[in-house]
Amino acid sequence: MMKIEIAPSILSADFARLGEEVREAEAAGADRIHVDVMDGRFVPNLTMGVVVVEALRRVTRLPLEVHLMIVEPERFLEAFARAGADLLIVHPEATPHAHRAIQQIKELGVRAGLAVNPATPLAWFEDLLPELDQALLMTVNPGFGGQRFLEQSLPRLERLRAMRDRLNPACRIEVDGGINPETAPRVVQAGAEVLVAGSSVFNARASVAENLNALRRSLA
Ligand code: DX5
Ligand code: ZN
Repeated sequence: MMKIEIAPSILSADFARLGEEVREAEAAGADRIHVDVMDGRFVPNLTMGVVVVEALRRVTRLPLEVHLMIVEPERFLEAFARAGADLLIVHPEATPHAHRAIQQIKELGVRAGLAVNPATPLAWFEDLLPELDQALLMTVNPGFGGQRFLEQSLPRLERLRAMRDRLNPACRIEVDGGINPETAPRVVQAGAEVLVAGSSVFNARASVAENLNALRRSLA
């Protein structure tokens, strides 16, 4: 079995100490850093953009995956690629041209991911999976950290996993939203291989290292 990767989402980090938080996650064995870009239109929240990815590129060697929750993500793919993104994830609900966006990402020399919201039919993946490096199943409605895991995600994940095994075994399956030591083993059981975790990693209850260890232990 492939190694299960953990991708801390900096959305829940202390932005006044962002560099330190990311270094701490790297030292504690995080596999990637997940960057949530929101535009106040595709989702009801505003977060960060290209300059933050540039700054993160200077403080960590970990792969940076950029989750674009913005309308018409095509407009910014090149800028995020130049800023140092290793993986760019777009939503098909946010563009009339998801396939073109995926192709543009690959032409930029960056890995390509597609993310779908909880109400979006998995049929999107049927056509696009052969082109993808990563398939992201949202396990909450995107927009905010700290939301509760949607239980109906589990059967969807099983279906996505079967689709992936059939259409593109090299594509990795990621989940995002409500992942903690209770839900992590369940999503892995259902087929997830990359786990995004925000509020369960960056919070005041324990150190980043302790939180990451708790997540890893839950998978053992
Ligand atoms: C939600 C974002 C997530 C978020 C996850 O819209 O895409 O990446 O940071 O946060 P948690 O892990 O707290 O649910
Ligand atoms: Zn995300």
